[in-house]
Amino acid sequence: MSDSAELIIEGKSYKLPVVVGTENERAIDISSLRAQTSYITLDSGYKNTGATKSAITFLDGEEGILRYRGYPIEQLAEKSSFIEVAYLLIYGKLPTTNELADFDKQIKEQLSIPEGVQKILSGFPTTAHPMGVLSALISSLTAFYPESLNPNQPKDEVNNNIVRLIGQITTIAAAIHNHSSGSVSSAPNSNIDYCANFMSMMFGGNNSEYEVSPVVVDALNKLLILHADHEQNCSTSTVRLVGSSNASLYTSISGGVNALWGPLHGGANQEVIEMLEAIKADGGNSKKWIEKAKDKNDPFRLMGFGHRVYKNFDPRAKIIKAACDNILSNLGIKDQALDIAKELEEAALTDPYFVDRKLYPNVDFYSGIIYKALGIPNEMFTVMFAIGRLPGWIAQWKELHEQKEPIGRPRQIYTGENERDYVAIDAR
Ligand code: CMC
Repeated sequence: MSDSAELIIEGKSYKLPVVVGTENERAIDISSLRAQTSYITLDSGYKNTGATKSAITFLDGEEGILRYRGYPIEQLAEKSSFIEVAYLLIYGKLPTTNELADFDKQIKEQLSIPEGVQKILSGFPTTAHPMGVLSALISSLTAFYPESLNPNQPKDEVNNNIVRLIGQITTIAAAIHNHSSGSVSSAPNSNIDYCANFMSMMFGGNNSEYEVSPVVVDALNKLLILHADHEQNCSTSTVRLVGSSNASLYTSISGGVNALWGPLHGGANQEVIEMLEAIKADGGNSKKWIEKAKDKNDPFRLMGFGHRVYKNFDPRAKIIKAACDNILSNLGIKDQALDIAKELEEAALTDPYFVDRKLYPNVDFYSGIIYKALGIPNEMFTVMFAIGRLPGWIAQWKELHEQKEPIGRPRQIYTGENERDYVAIDAR
């Protein structure tokens, strides 16, 4: 196959190099296009634009493939733990027993949050959405660890920032939940699994008898693994873009949290459960809601359906659907929301509107049902996604710096007014 592409503009031919990835993905390198031709490329929503070369995650939306550092998501979800996957994403290889134990220890030494962060939290209204608070508190870490502001820190110090954030995000998230619900936060316990400690900080403060079941720990590990990275999506691209200005790790991740919050991205998990509850309250008629989703005059979309890159199925949704059945039966929970979700899925998968547009359930269609079964309130669902996505964001931020990428700065086609003279206010 050719290693260059030919572009003909106004009868003149230009050669542009072709870049080939390890999975034979092909791109035309247009970085010299403007210098050669004065043209730019236009691709609203970056639907077909590669923003970087990355060795972290491979995704094939047509085939439904997702691999972290080459390892299939199905194997990682079944056999690995969230902390092991975090190590894999950030450092590029599966850890040895000693490496994993050391990484885990470093994270657990960093579970306590500064008193000042707790004080800032106490100033937020208890009704504040947890995602806004999470973003603010992560950004506030720059004040408590000012050395993190220097993008050219030695490797060990960058690593300190990394493990600190992985440790503290769970304590911050549990503190946010306890602040909104008026509950007492229990102190972090570094002697138990990362997910078990998170659940006990969430729910153990008011209940000294609280014990985290292994089924719950297993479910949470799986969910976090499935969310851990997803190449250049909206929040990850935000992290890379913010990081490209040499903003600190905490600032860049705080930006990622904000991007994730939107209902078209990570916020969909909260929207899905609210949609299922609304359908239930409305009498459970899924057909009526399918019709609403198809109606172009109705802004309603079937939340948890469709994906920018998966056009056959979302491999994460397949794993989550099976996990959801398993967890509900293990915990002895019967949830009508699950029946409605299954009905919606069945109806949508046979409806030409959804079939023609290749709209399938995505990772968020079932994740909310699991979070609900674990006792996590709806408004915390997207925070759970953020905890899961954190290692991916960190890995992408680290890679950006290791590859010494330039500051991100897209161009535009201007469609506004041509030059005109200022008009005084009384003459308008
Ligand atoms: N319900 C009804 N119609 C839909 C839906 C939906 N959920 N998603 C897409 N469509 C229609 C859309 O109206 C358009 O129709 P037409 O061609 O007639 O104008 C067509 O399908 C293509 O949609 P699009 O908005 O151009 O596709 P996109 O790639 O820009 O958007 C998406 C992808 C995920 C934002 C969108 O499918 C959506 O809004 N889904 C619901 C929100 C959701 O579940 N988001 C979570 C994504 S997974 C978690 C994550 O990784 O972020």
